[in-house]
Amino acid sequence: MNMNSNVSNLAVTTLYPICYSGPPAMDWLYLVNGLAALSVVVFFIMLLSGDSDIFLQLMERFGKSQECLAGKVVWITGASSGIGEALAYEMARAQCRLVLSARREEELERVKSECIRVGCLNHEDVLVLKLDIKEFCDHEAAVQQVLKTFQRIDILVNNAGRTNKGEWTTTSMAVDQELLAVNVLGPVSLTRAVLPHMVSRSQGHIVVTSSVAGKLGAALYAGSYFGSKHALQGWFDALRPEVYSKNINVTSICPGPIYTNILQHALKENAGEILQGKMDPNKKRMSPMRCARLMTIAIANRCDEAWISTTPGLVSLYINQYFPNTFKWCIKIFSSRLMAEIDSELGDGNAETITKLNA
Ligand SMILES: NC(=O)c1ccc[n+]([C@@H]2O[C@H](COP(=O)([O-])OP(=O)(O)OC[C@H]3O[C@@H](n4cnc5c(N)ncnc54)[C@H](OP(=O)(O)O)[C@@H]3O)[C@@H](O)[C@H]2O)c1
Repeated sequence: MNMNSNVSNLAVTTLYPICYSGPPAMDWLYLVNGLAALSVVVFFIMLLSGDSDIFLQLMERFGKSQECLAGKVVWITGASSGIGEALAYEMARAQCRLVLSARREEELERVKSECIRVGCLNHEDVLVLKLDIKEFCDHEAAVQQVLKTFQRIDILVNNAGRTNKGEWTTTSMAVDQELLAVNVLGPVSLTRAVLPHMVSRSQGHIVVTSSVAGKLGAALYAGSYFGSKHALQGWFDALRPEVYSKNINVTSICPGPIYTNILQHALKENAGEILQGKMDPNKKRMSPMRCARLMTIAIANRCDEAWISTTPGLVSLYINQYFPNTFKWCIKIFSSRLMAEIDSELGDGNAETITKLNA
Protein backbone atom coordinates (compact mmCIF):
# COMPACT_ATOMS: atom_id res chain seq x y z
CA MET A 1 0.00 0.00 0.00
CA ASN A 2 2.79 2.30 1.07
CA MET A 3 4.85 1.25 -1.90
CA ASN A 4 1.91 1.85 -4.24
CA SER A 5 1.43 5.36 -2.94
CA ASN A 6 5.17 6.06 -3.45
CA VAL A 7 4.90 4.89 -7.05
CA SER A 8 1.88 7.06 -7.68
CA ASN A 9 3.63 10.02 -6.02
CA LEU A 10 6.63 9.46 -8.26
CA ALA A 11 4.38 9.29 -11.31
CA VAL A 12 2.71 12.54 -10.35
CA THR A 13 5.98 14.40 -9.68
CA THR A 14 7.73 13.17 -12.86
CA LEU A 15 4.83 13.07 -15.32
CA TYR A 16 3.04 16.18 -14.18
CA PRO A 17 5.66 18.62 -15.45
CA ILE A 18 5.71 16.78 -18.81
CA CYS A 19 1.94 16.94 -19.09
CA TYR A 20 1.94 20.47 -17.83
CA SER A 21 4.69 21.60 -20.23
CA GLY A 22 2.44 20.58 -23.18
CA PRO A 23 0.03 23.50 -23.34
CA PRO A 24 2.66 26.33 -23.17
CA ALA A 25 4.72 24.65 -25.95
CA MET A 26 1.54 24.39 -28.01
CA ASP A 27 0.87 28.06 -27.28
CA TRP A 28 4.26 29.04 -28.74
CA LEU A 29 3.61 26.91 -31.80
CA TYR A 30 0.22 28.55 -32.34
CA LEU A 31 1.79 31.96 -31.84
CA VAL A 32 4.60 31.37 -34.35
CA ASN A 33 2.19 29.88 -36.90
CA GLY A 34 -0.24 32.74 -36.35
CA LEU A 35 2.48 35.34 -36.85
CA ALA A 36 3.72 33.60 -40.00
CA ALA A 37 0.17 33.48 -41.42
CA LEU A 38 -0.38 37.14 -40.51
CA SER A 39 2.90 38.15 -42.22
CA VAL A 40 1.86 36.35 -45.39
CA VAL A 41 -1.54 38.09 -45.37
CA VAL A 42 0.07 41.51 -44.74
CA PHE A 43 2.64 40.81 -47.52
CA PHE A 44 -0.13 40.06 -50.04
CA ILE A 45 -2.19 43.09 -49.01
CA MET A 46 0.87 45.34 -49.43
CA LEU A 47 1.72 43.68 -52.75
CA LEU A 48 -1.76 44.10 -54.21
CA SER A 49 -2.52 47.57 -52.86
CA GLY A 50 0.92 49.22 -52.85
CA ASP A 51 2.82 51.09 -55.55
CA SER A 52 6.38 50.05 -54.66
CA ASP A 53 8.28 47.04 -53.35
CA ILE A 54 7.53 45.98 -49.78
CA PHE A 55 10.76 47.40 -48.34
CA LEU A 56 10.15 50.83 -49.88
CA GLN A 57 6.55 50.77 -48.58
CA LEU A 58 7.95 50.15 -45.08
CA MET A 59 10.52 52.94 -45.55
CA GLU A 60 7.75 55.34 -46.58
CA ARG A 61 5.90 54.61 -43.33
CA PHE A 62 8.72 54.10 -40.85
CA GLY A 63 11.98 55.21 -42.53
CA LYS A 64 13.68 58.58 -43.00
CA SER A 65 11.70 61.30 -44.74
CA GLN A 66 13.08 63.49 -47.53
CA GLU A 67 13.77 66.27 -45.02
CA CYS A 68 17.03 64.51 -44.17
CA LEU A 69 18.29 65.55 -47.62
CA ALA A 70 18.12 69.29 -46.80
CA GLY A 71 21.24 71.18 -47.87
CA LYS A 72 22.56 68.38 -50.12
CA VAL A 73 23.88 69.21 -53.59
CA VAL A 74 21.89 67.02 -55.99
CA TRP A 75 22.77 66.74 -59.70
CA ILE A 76 19.90 65.43 -61.86
CA THR A 77 20.37 64.52 -65.54
CA GLY A 78 17.30 64.46 -67.77
CA ALA A 79 15.81 67.22 -65.61
CA SER A 80 14.06 69.02 -68.48
CA SER A 81 10.93 66.82 -68.42
CA GLY A 82 9.12 63.81 -66.95
CA ILE A 83 10.55 61.96 -63.97
CA GLY A 84 13.70 64.14 -63.76
CA GLU A 85 11.64 67.33 -63.70
CA ALA A 86 9.32 65.98 -60.98
CA LEU A 87 12.34 64.81 -58.97
CA ALA A 88 13.84 68.32 -59.19
CA TYR A 89 10.67 69.72 -57.57
CA GLU A 90 10.73 67.06 -54.82
CA MET A 91 14.38 67.84 -54.07
CA ALA A 92 13.66 71.59 -54.13
CA ARG A 93 10.88 71.07 -51.57
CA ALA A 94 13.37 69.12 -49.45
CA GLN A 95 15.65 72.22 -49.52
CA CYS A 96 18.39 70.68 -51.65
CA ARG A 97 20.67 72.69 -53.89
CA LEU A 98 20.29 71.55 -57.46
CA VAL A 99 22.17 71.05 -60.70
CA LEU A 100 19.77 70.52 -63.60
CA SER A 101 21.15 68.92 -66.78
CA ALA A 102 19.74 67.96 -70.18
CA ARG A 103 20.13 69.24 -73.76
CA ARG A 104 17.21 71.73 -73.90
CA GLU A 105 18.41 74.74 -71.94
CA GLU A 106 15.16 76.71 -72.18
CA GLU A 107 13.25 73.79 -70.60
CA LEU A 108 15.84 73.61 -67.83
CA GLU A 109 15.37 77.34 -67.15
CA ARG A 110 11.62 76.74 -66.86
CA VAL A 111 12.23 73.89 -64.38
CA LYS A 112 14.68 76.08 -62.44
CA SER A 113 12.08 78.87 -62.01
CA GLU A 114 9.55 76.32 -60.74
CA CYS A 115 12.12 74.81 -58.33
CA ILE A 116 12.82 78.27 -56.89
CA ARG A 117 9.07 78.83 -56.48
CA VAL A 118 8.10 75.47 -54.90
CA GLY A 119 11.16 75.23 -52.65
CA CYS A 120 11.47 78.96 -51.81
CA LEU A 121 15.10 78.65 -52.97
CA ASN A 122 17.46 81.41 -54.06
CA HIS A 123 18.54 81.87 -57.66
CA GLU A 124 22.09 80.72 -56.70
CA ASP A 125 20.75 77.44 -55.25
CA VAL A 126 19.95 76.06 -58.71
CA LEU A 127 22.51 75.67 -61.51
CA VAL A 128 21.37 74.99 -65.07
CA LEU A 129 24.09 72.98 -66.78
CA LYS A 130 23.42 72.04 -70.39
CA LEU A 131 24.82 68.56 -71.06
CA ASP A 132 24.44 65.92 -73.74
CA ILE A 133 24.96 62.65 -71.87
CA LYS A 134 26.38 61.05 -75.06
CA GLU A 135 29.23 63.59 -75.24
CA PHE A 136 31.53 61.72 -72.86
CA CYS A 137 34.43 64.12 -73.40
CA ASP A 138 32.38 66.98 -71.85
CA HIS A 139 31.73 65.16 -68.57
CA GLU A 140 34.94 66.07 -66.74
CA ALA A 141 34.50 69.79 -67.51
CA ALA A 142 30.87 69.59 -66.34
CA VAL A 143 31.95 68.08 -63.00
CA GLN A 144 34.51 70.87 -62.53
CA GLN A 145 31.83 73.47 -63.23
CA VAL A 146 29.53 72.00 -60.58
CA LEU A 147 32.38 71.87 -58.05
CA LYS A 148 33.28 75.50 -58.84
CA THR A 149 29.67 76.53 -58.13
CA PHE A 150 28.82 74.38 -55.09
CA GLN A 151 32.24 72.97 -53.96
CA ARG A 152 30.74 69.50 -53.65
CA ILE A 153 28.39 66.91 -55.18
CA ASP A 154 26.44 64.83 -52.65
CA ILE A 155 24.05 62.96 -54.94
CA LEU A 156 24.25 62.27 -58.69
CA VAL A 157 20.99 61.06 -60.26
CA ASN A 158 21.65 59.50 -63.70
CA ASN A 159 18.12 59.85 -64.99
CA ALA A 160 18.43 60.92 -68.67
CA GLY A 161 17.16 58.17 -70.94
CA ARG A 162 15.50 57.20 -74.16
CA THR A 163 13.41 54.26 -75.38
CA ASN A 164 12.73 52.45 -78.66
CA LYS A 165 9.77 50.69 -80.21
CA GLY A 166 10.28 48.10 -82.90
CA GLU A 167 10.84 44.44 -83.68
CA TRP A 168 14.11 42.93 -82.46
CA THR A 169 14.86 41.38 -85.89
CA THR A 170 14.53 44.54 -87.94
CA THR A 171 15.90 47.13 -85.49
CA SER A 172 19.10 48.62 -86.84
CA MET A 173 22.42 48.56 -84.98
CA ALA A 174 22.39 52.36 -85.01
CA VAL A 175 19.37 52.26 -82.65
CA ASP A 176 21.15 49.81 -80.33
CA GLN A 177 24.23 52.06 -80.30
CA GLU A 178 22.20 55.20 -79.58
CA LEU A 179 20.38 53.58 -76.63
CA LEU A 180 23.58 52.11 -75.23
CA ALA A 181 25.24 55.54 -75.42
CA VAL A 182 22.37 57.43 -73.75
CA ASN A 183 21.11 54.83 -71.26
CA VAL A 184 24.34 53.08 -70.26
CA LEU A 185 27.68 54.54 -71.31
CA GLY A 186 26.60 58.14 -70.59
CA PRO A 187 25.71 57.36 -66.94
CA VAL A 188 28.86 55.22 -66.59
CA SER A 189 31.08 58.01 -67.96
CA LEU A 190 29.51 60.77 -65.83
CA THR A 191 29.69 58.58 -62.71
CA ARG A 192 33.39 57.86 -63.37
CA ALA A 193 33.98 61.63 -63.63
CA VAL A 194 32.16 62.31 -60.33
CA LEU A 195 33.49 59.38 -58.25
CA PRO A 196 37.04 60.67 -57.55
CA HIS A 197 35.47 63.70 -55.83
CA MET A 198 33.13 61.50 -53.76
CA VAL A 199 35.97 59.11 -52.87
CA SER A 200 38.16 62.03 -51.73
CA ARG A 201 35.34 63.17 -49.38
CA SER A 202 34.54 59.59 -48.30
CA GLN A 203 30.88 60.19 -48.96
CA GLY A 204 28.45 60.32 -51.82
CA HIS A 205 25.45 58.73 -53.43
CA ILE A 206 25.03 57.54 -57.04
CA VAL A 207 21.48 56.96 -58.27
CA VAL A 208 20.42 55.49 -61.62
CA THR A 209 16.93 55.54 -63.11
CA SER A 210 16.72 52.04 -64.50
CA SER A 211 13.28 50.52 -65.17
CA VAL A 212 11.25 47.39 -64.52
CA ALA A 213 12.61 46.67 -68.02
CA GLY A 214 16.00 46.30 -66.36
CA LYS A 215 14.65 43.52 -64.11
CA LEU A 216 12.10 41.49 -66.08
CA GLY A 217 13.27 38.47 -68.00
CA ALA A 218 11.20 39.01 -71.15
CA ALA A 219 10.32 41.92 -73.46
CA LEU A 220 8.14 42.71 -76.45
CA TYR A 221 9.01 45.21 -79.19
CA ALA A 222 11.57 47.19 -77.17
CA GLY A 223 14.61 44.90 -77.21
CA SER A 224 17.21 47.69 -77.37
CA TYR A 225 15.65 49.52 -74.42
CA PHE A 226 15.41 46.29 -72.39
CA GLY A 227 18.98 45.38 -73.22
CA SER A 228 20.26 48.83 -72.26
CA LYS A 229 18.43 48.85 -68.90
CA HIS A 230 19.70 45.35 -68.06
CA ALA A 231 23.22 46.56 -68.86
CA LEU A 232 22.70 49.63 -66.67
CA GLN A 233 21.61 47.38 -63.78
CA GLY A 234 24.69 45.19 -64.26
CA TRP A 235 27.14 48.07 -64.43
CA PHE A 236 25.88 49.70 -61.24
CA ASP A 237 25.32 46.44 -59.33
CA ALA A 238 29.04 45.88 -59.94
CA LEU A 239 29.93 49.35 -58.66
CA ARG A 240 27.93 49.09 -55.41
CA PRO A 241 30.14 46.66 -53.43
CA GLU A 242 33.36 48.32 -54.67
CA VAL A 243 32.48 51.74 -53.21
CA TYR A 244 30.52 50.63 -50.13
CA SER A 245 33.59 50.73 -47.88
CA LYS A 246 34.26 54.30 -49.09
CA ASN A 247 30.86 55.37 -47.73
CA ILE A 248 29.37 55.76 -51.20
CA ASN A 249 25.92 54.31 -51.88
CA VAL A 250 24.46 53.16 -55.18
CA THR A 251 20.68 53.12 -55.68
CA SER A 252 18.99 51.58 -58.74
CA ILE A 253 15.45 52.85 -59.25
CA CYS A 254 13.16 50.62 -61.32
CA PRO A 255 9.93 52.40 -62.25
CA GLY A 256 7.05 50.75 -64.11
CA PRO A 257 4.85 52.74 -66.51
CA ILE A 258 4.96 56.47 -65.70
CA TYR A 259 3.00 59.18 -67.50
CA THR A 260 5.73 61.23 -69.29
CA ASN A 261 6.84 62.36 -72.77
CA ILE A 262 9.17 59.39 -73.25
CA LEU A 263 7.25 58.09 -76.29
CA GLN A 264 7.58 61.39 -78.09
CA HIS A 265 11.33 60.93 -78.57
CA ALA A 266 11.31 57.11 -78.82
CA LEU A 267 13.36 55.68 -81.68
CA LYS A 268 11.75 53.39 -84.26
CA GLU A 269 13.60 50.65 -86.13
CA ASN A 270 15.97 52.87 -88.10
CA ALA A 271 18.29 55.64 -86.98
CA GLY A 272 16.67 59.06 -87.15
CA GLU A 273 13.09 57.71 -87.18
CA ILE A 274 11.21 59.10 -84.18
CA LEU A 275 7.95 57.56 -82.95
CA GLN A 276 6.40 60.87 -81.79
CA GLY A 277 3.96 58.80 -79.75
CA LYS A 278 1.69 60.11 -77.04
CA MET A 279 0.54 58.39 -73.90
CA ASP A 280 -3.18 58.04 -73.35
CA PRO A 281 -3.94 60.00 -70.16
CA ASN A 282 -6.91 57.71 -69.49
CA LYS A 283 -4.77 54.56 -69.20
CA LYS A 284 -3.52 53.47 -65.78
CA ARG A 285 -0.04 54.94 -65.22
CA MET A 286 1.69 56.43 -62.23
CA SER A 287 2.17 60.21 -62.19
CA PRO A 288 5.78 61.45 -62.38
CA MET A 289 5.14 63.32 -59.10
CA ARG A 290 4.34 60.10 -57.22
CA CYS A 291 7.29 58.33 -58.84
CA ALA A 292 9.59 61.21 -57.81
CA ARG A 293 8.26 61.11 -54.22
CA LEU A 294 9.04 57.38 -53.96
CA MET A 295 12.47 57.93 -55.54
CA THR A 296 13.22 60.58 -52.93
CA ILE A 297 12.28 58.17 -50.13
CA ALA A 298 14.51 55.47 -51.65
CA ILE A 299 17.37 57.98 -51.85
CA ALA A 300 16.83 59.30 -48.31
CA ASN A 301 16.92 55.72 -46.99
CA ARG A 302 19.87 54.73 -49.20
CA CYS A 303 18.04 51.72 -50.63
CA ASP A 304 20.16 49.55 -52.96
CA GLU A 305 17.26 48.97 -55.31
CA ALA A 306 13.68 50.24 -55.43
CA TRP A 307 10.78 48.93 -57.53
CA ILE A 308 8.15 51.59 -58.24
CA SER A 309 5.02 50.14 -59.79
CA THR A 310 1.46 49.19 -59.02
CA THR A 311 -0.03 45.76 -59.65
CA PRO A 312 0.15 43.93 -62.07
CA GLY A 313 3.67 45.29 -62.68
CA LEU A 314 4.65 44.80 -59.04
CA VAL A 315 3.39 41.20 -58.96
CA SER A 316 5.25 40.49 -62.22
CA LEU A 317 8.47 41.76 -60.63
CA TYR A 318 8.12 39.43 -57.65
CA ILE A 319 7.19 36.44 -59.85
CA ASN A 320 10.14 37.22 -62.12
CA GLN A 321 12.48 37.52 -59.14
CA TYR A 322 11.49 34.32 -57.34
CA PHE A 323 10.15 32.17 -60.22
CA PRO A 324 12.15 33.38 -63.26
CA ASN A 325 11.37 30.41 -65.48
CA THR A 326 7.64 30.62 -64.75
CA PHE A 327 7.68 34.29 -65.72
CA LYS A 328 9.54 33.62 -69.00
CA TRP A 329 7.20 30.72 -69.77
CA CYS A 330 4.09 32.90 -69.23
CA ILE A 331 5.38 35.62 -71.56
CA LYS A 332 6.23 32.98 -74.20
CA ILE A 333 2.79 31.42 -73.99
CA PHE A 334 0.96 34.76 -74.27
CA SER A 335 3.44 36.42 -76.67
CA SER A 336 1.42 35.88 -79.89
CA ARG A 337 -1.69 37.37 -78.31
CA LEU A 338 0.24 40.29 -76.81
CA MET A 339 2.08 41.01 -80.08
CA ALA A 340 -1.17 40.89 -82.09
CA GLU A 341 -2.67 43.35 -79.63
CA ILE A 342 0.34 45.67 -80.03
CA ASP A 343 0.24 45.37 -83.85
CA SER A 344 -3.43 46.29 -84.03
CA GLU A 345 -2.97 49.24 -81.68
CA LEU A 346 0.07 50.41 -83.66
CA GLY A 347 -1.97 50.16 -86.82
CA ASP A 348 -4.30 52.71 -85.22
CA GLY A 349 -1.30 54.94 -84.60
CA ASN A 350 -1.47 54.33 -80.86
CA ALA A 351 1.75 53.24 -79.19
CA GLU A 352 0.29 53.11 -75.70
CA THR A 353 -0.03 49.34 -75.43
CA ILE A 354 3.64 48.82 -76.23
CA THR A 355 4.80 51.09 -73.47
CA LYS A 356 2.29 49.64 -71.05
CA LEU A 357 3.90 46.26 -71.61
CA ASN A 358 7.49 47.43 -71.78
CA ALA A 359 7.99 50.49 -69.57
N1 LIG B 1 8.15 56.91 -68.46
C1 LIG B 1 8.25 55.65 -68.10
O1 LIG B 1 7.27 54.91 -68.21
C2 LIG B 1 9.55 55.12 -67.56
C3 LIG B 1 9.52 53.87 -66.93
C4 LIG B 1 10.71 53.36 -66.42
C5 LIG B 1 11.88 54.07 -66.52
N2 LIG B 1 11.89 55.28 -67.14
C6 LIG B 1 13.18 55.99 -67.23
O2 LIG B 1 13.07 57.27 -66.64
C7 LIG B 1 14.05 58.14 -67.21
C8 LIG B 1 13.36 59.45 -67.57
O3 LIG B 1 12.40 59.20 -68.57
P1 LIG B 1 11.02 59.99 -68.67
O4 LIG B 1 9.94 58.98 -68.69
O5 LIG B 1 10.97 61.06 -67.67
O6 LIG B 1 11.12 60.56 -70.16
P2 LIG B 1 11.21 62.04 -70.73
O7 LIG B 1 10.12 62.88 -70.19
O8 LIG B 1 11.31 61.88 -72.21
O9 LIG B 1 12.59 62.57 -70.14
C9 LIG B 1 13.82 62.13 -70.67
C10 LIG B 1 14.87 63.11 -70.19
O10 LIG B 1 16.14 62.64 -70.66
C11 LIG B 1 16.82 63.71 -71.29
N3 LIG B 1 17.69 63.21 -72.35
C12 LIG B 1 17.38 62.40 -73.40
N4 LIG B 1 18.46 62.23 -74.17
C13 LIG B 1 19.47 62.94 -73.60
C14 LIG B 1 20.82 63.16 -73.93
N5 LIG B 1 21.38 62.63 -75.04
N6 LIG B 1 21.57 63.94 -73.12
C15 LIG B 1 21.03 64.51 -72.02
N7 LIG B 1 19.76 64.34 -71.65
C16 LIG B 1 18.98 63.57 -72.45
C17 LIG B 1 15.70 64.59 -71.87
O11 LIG B 1 16.16 65.95 -71.98
P3 LIG B 1 16.54 66.69 -73.35
O12 LIG B 1 15.66 66.14 -74.42
O13 LIG B 1 16.28 68.13 -73.04
O14 LIG B 1 17.99 66.41 -73.55
C18 LIG B 1 14.67 64.50 -70.76
O15 LIG B 1 14.93 65.45 -69.76
C19 LIG B 1 14.63 57.39 -68.40
O16 LIG B 1 15.88 56.87 -68.04
C20 LIG B 1 13.65 56.27 -68.64
O17 LIG B 1 14.24 55.15 -69.22
C21 LIG B 1 10.75 55.82 -67.65
